[in-house]
Amino acid sequence: MCGIVGYVGLGNATDIVVNGLQRLEYRGYDSAGIAVYDQDLGLQICRSIGKLGMLVARLQHDCPAQGPVGLGHTRWATHGGVTEDNAHPHRDQDGTIVVIQNGIVENYLELKGRLLEQGHSFKSQTDTEVIAHLVGVHYRETQSLEQAVRRTLGELRGGNAVVAFSVNEPDRLVAARLGNAGGVVIGVGDGENFVASDMPAILDHTREMLFLENRELAIITRDAVQISTLEGTPVQRVPTHMSWDPVAAAKGDYKHFMQKEIYEQPRALMDVLRGRIDQEGGMVHLEDLKLDDDALRQIDRIYAVACGTAWHAALVGKFMLETLAQVRVDVDYASEFRYRQPLLDQRTLLLTFTQSGETVDTLAAMEEARDQHVHSVAIVNAIGSQAARLADGGPIYLHAGPEIGVASTKCFTNMLVACYLFALRIAQARGLMPPAPMREHLQALIELPGKAAQVLEQAAAQCEELTEYYYHASDALYLGRQVNYPIALEGALKLKEISYIHAEGYPAGEMKHGPIALIDDSLPVLCIAPRDGIYEKMLSNVEQVKARGGHVIAIASEGDTLLPTKADHVIFIPETIPLLTPVLTVLPLQLLSYYIAVRRGCDVDQPRNLAKSVTVE
Ligand code: AGP
Repeated sequence: MCGIVGYVGLGNATDIVVNGLQRLEYRGYDSAGIAVYDQDLGLQICRSIGKLGMLVARLQHDCPAQGPVGLGHTRWATHGGVTEDNAHPHRDQDGTIVVIQNGIVENYLELKGRLLEQGHSFKSQTDTEVIAHLVGVHYRETQSLEQAVRRTLGELRGGNAVVAFSVNEPDRLVAARLGNAGGVVIGVGDGENFVASDMPAILDHTREMLFLENRELAIITRDAVQISTLEGTPVQRVPTHMSWDPVAAAKGDYKHFMQKEIYEQPRALMDVLRGRIDQEGGMVHLEDLKLDDDALRQIDRIYAVACGTAWHAALVGKFMLETLAQVRVDVDYASEFRYRQPLLDQRTLLLTFTQSGETVDTLAAMEEARDQHVHSVAIVNAIGSQAARLADGGPIYLHAGPEIGVASTKCFTNMLVACYLFALRIAQARGLMPPAPMREHLQALIELPGKAAQVLEQAAAQCEELTEYYYHASDALYLGRQVNYPIALEGALKLKEISYIHAEGYPAGEMKHGPIALIDDSLPVLCIAPRDGIYEKMLSNVEQVKARGGHVIAIASEGDTLLPTKADHVIFIPETIPLLTPVLTVLPLQLLSYYIAVRRGCDVDQPRNLAKSVTVE
């Protein structure tokens, strides 16, 4: 959602903050702004709607800003439309205090009403301006920015990450975090310090990171970072050293990050397996898992909880965990789970799936588990993220490298493999998987990156060609069964989010209970039909679509000679264990969505209205 960057040091804050905001562009936003302070030039604020380039142009032509302290923000509108007045930073009543925020102030109307009665006037419709005014009120009482922010956060309801600056204390920024409105990470430098909502914004400058936890506040000056709780208790925290490959976060020769990330999948799949497989001994080892064999044996029910694409991974995970580990699995949207008082007990495990590790609903589900003393494990990509830290049972890292494209691709396939490994690990602890069958599973996993590379190589040209038939479609239907039903959902989501074509994923058997009414000769129907136990059922569904004039694009197993006689187009995938087919069947669907979106001239990496990390409800 919103991106936050702040700097205190001797360099030019404008360059550092703008550069940081550029690194957060993938999060998605509609406007941006920056405030910089210099002793001689005073407080300089520049804001613009649109992409960051528009802010940069304004900084160059209309409002050049420079100084050694500054803060900037990219906004994803929640309260108030996309206007310059609503863009952050916002100021208090007398204009000496500046605030940027990520999150939502749930009680802002009540707070604003009170301030209006006291004679305050507002320039925007945002909830953040209310925070700035409150900090101003408390500053006048306490003459301390730290105390003013502390008192203000005491009045807010919701999840908020806030950074504040006062011209009366120009040597510092005060950052604070309330709830799960995304992270606040502080970069510790040499004679300069940084704050951001996400590490990539500041990784060019330092690898030493401090993470603010819920209800913590930090005073950031050039030489020091002091953390305390909102109640005022000092917190001692040692920075974590983050390793990061800047090349991995660059687009290289690819046109889009999404395209790069699709093609990175064979490498990413190798990385999620690396060091975790003992083929000779027939064992799986998950290095960060804190649940021992005994704890794994105790589990009698798993809640798999996630959002969006990660939720589709959880749906596939259910098949893996139930089949291999023989544990009952319930899958839930995190946004539903958190509000329906789920029945948890000491033998329940909460298993979350999240690329960013910062999705607000997923974090809330994990907090619910923690409050009920239920173990949680996070299948997560972002190292050191909030989900990784909240998981008392440990993270299972995806090791997919940075995923910048808003549409998740490589993290999805890595989630499937990470979950497969976890299912095998539980099976091992429970004595369900003797070394011989285990070796067969491990062998299938080892062969997977090569097979993924083969699919990408063979299917790319075909998918690009198919684009010409289907890029102007207004709707599409995706059908799959069993473990490939979530792939139908995922294929439809990929198409929707980047090409804005309406698409629906359905269990193929459900088609005749409604969606069949949609079929005519203008509807592309994507049928995922690898050769498995329900292949023949899928074949009947293909026949039913064809009988009504629909266009069938089928994903089939190599060597299948029957499906090509029925479908309009067939894309082949190599054979693998049925439970692992989703890792391969999803690849052509990603490619197809990508090419269709490019053909339609859509902004593939930053689709409209979407944000990479969803940190508000
Ligand atoms: C994926 O293509 C999406 N844009 C989105 O659904 C995403 O998967 C979801 O927001 C969950 O994010 P997370 O994995 O970072 O928790």
